[in-house]
Amino acid sequence: MLTSTIPTALLALALSSVAQAQYSLVKEYAGSSFFNDWNFYGNFDNLTNGDAIFVTADQAASQKLAFVNGAGNAIIKVDNTTTVAFNDKRNTVRISSKDQFAVGSVWVADMLHVPFGCSVWPAFWSQAPNWPTGGEIDTFEGVNMVLNSQSALHTEPGCTITGAVQTSTLVNSTDCSFQSNSNEGCQVTNPDPASYGAAFAAAGGGVYVTEFAEAGISIWFFSRKNVPASLQGNSSTVDTSTLGTPTVNYPQASCSIDKFFQPQNLIFDITLCGDADSRLSAAGNPTTFAQTCTGVCYQNYVIGPPSTYDNAYFEVQSVRVFGTSSKVDIPPSGANGAAGWAVSARLAVACFVIAAVAYVAPGVA
Ligand SMILES: *[C@@H]1O[C@H](CO)[C@@H](O)[C@H](O)[C@H]1NC(C)=O
Ligand SMILES: *[C@@H]1O[C@H](CO)[C@@H](O)[C@H](O)[C@H]1NC(C)=O
Ligand SMILES: *[C@@H]1O[C@H](CO)[C@@H](O)[C@H](O)[C@H]1NC(C)=O
Ligand SMILES: *[C@@H]1O[C@H](CO)[C@@H](O)[C@H](O)[C@H]1NC(C)=O
Repeated sequence: MLTSTIPTALLALALSSVAQAQYSLVKEYAGSSFFNDWNFYGNFDNLTNGDAIFVTADQAASQKLAFVNGAGNAIIKVDNTTTVAFNDKRNTVRISSKDQFAVGSVWVADMLHVPFGCSVWPAFWSQAPNWPTGGEIDTFEGVNMVLNSQSALHTEPGCTITGAVQTSTLVNSTDCSFQSNSNEGCQVTNPDPASYGAAFAAAGGGVYVTEFAEAGISIWFFSRKNVPASLQGNSSTVDTSTLGTPTVNYPQASCSIDKFFQPQNLIFDITLCGDADSRLSAAGNPTTFAQTCTGVCYQNYVIGPPSTYDNAYFEVQSVRVFGTSSKVDIPPSGANGAAGWAVSARLAVACFVIAAVAYVAPGVA
């Protein structure tokens, strides 16, 4: 929406013809202001048919389902104090960033704990508002008591994975189309058992990095002891060329990033169970459920002992988003469309303001 208001000359400035490794900080979600710039869903899960109510911001605060803890970290959790009556759903949280981040962005999520437990289906992911148009990038997803996280893309038909340069050899599916494989997406399992569950927390958590570039989408996972120095502390830049081979890689060769992806809203959510037609085809599906849990998802867990959910929480130290604004390549004239944006929508606003000043000033003087 914002992109159409930006002067064309400025667009060219912000465009990037090639993927870039060097990115500068454009947005930080951390500390006491972590929750300021997210929308709370405020409705039952009508997206994946989970047995979950995604509470409003007010409910999340008063029920302590989303808050900043004493250590200054964001907690996003499932209600683990209420016994839920039969036919009711359990309260949990889904938040979506107010800002959207375009091609030419990197998001770095530093977490100490991720939700797990039978019936629990958490994700840290992103999507464009008109899904499946504009695509979806699932950086981190787990379900029930599986041992490893997984990543995926979901797109309109025509995006597949070939020639990935990645450390994972656990490729579950190579067609990203929402119409294929019951919308499983092009799913890759993270080979590191410290990527999910109790092992993630025991290792001190870790860092997930998502690079959303024209050359492709890459995801790195670093368990705490492997987090590179460049991602520790509060650096205002990140250089993805120093991070080594990504855990998961979706090269543009068989999936045009500009064609299938638009600016993304970042999302944290935790749903419960969910039907067999859901994106993961996992939570709530008896076959998948039975792989790591016993009993019946809703009856034995959602309306069972609230202590089932004692581990159903994210503890997030920070989410930091970087853009390519500091390093500008002018593309060949006429090349690229609005989809070639190399800065976030937020930065685009800043550019627009500067441009407006530049245009207005002569008239004013
Ligand atoms: C889910 O519910 C919200 C609020 O009622 C509504 O705006 C939205 O369209 C619904 N989405 C779906 C996919 O049904
Ligand atoms: C994906 O593949 C891995 C390795 O073959 C397997 O362990 C895992 O269960 C698969 N995941 C799903 C959701 O099918
Ligand atoms: C990190 O640095 C940015 C400026 O680059 C600053 O706005 C932010 O408050 C810092 N965050 C922390 C947690 O120190
Ligand atoms: C609920 O979960 C939290 C961790 O998120 C834990 O500290 C607490 O002891 C659990 N139980 C109750 C009854 O709050």
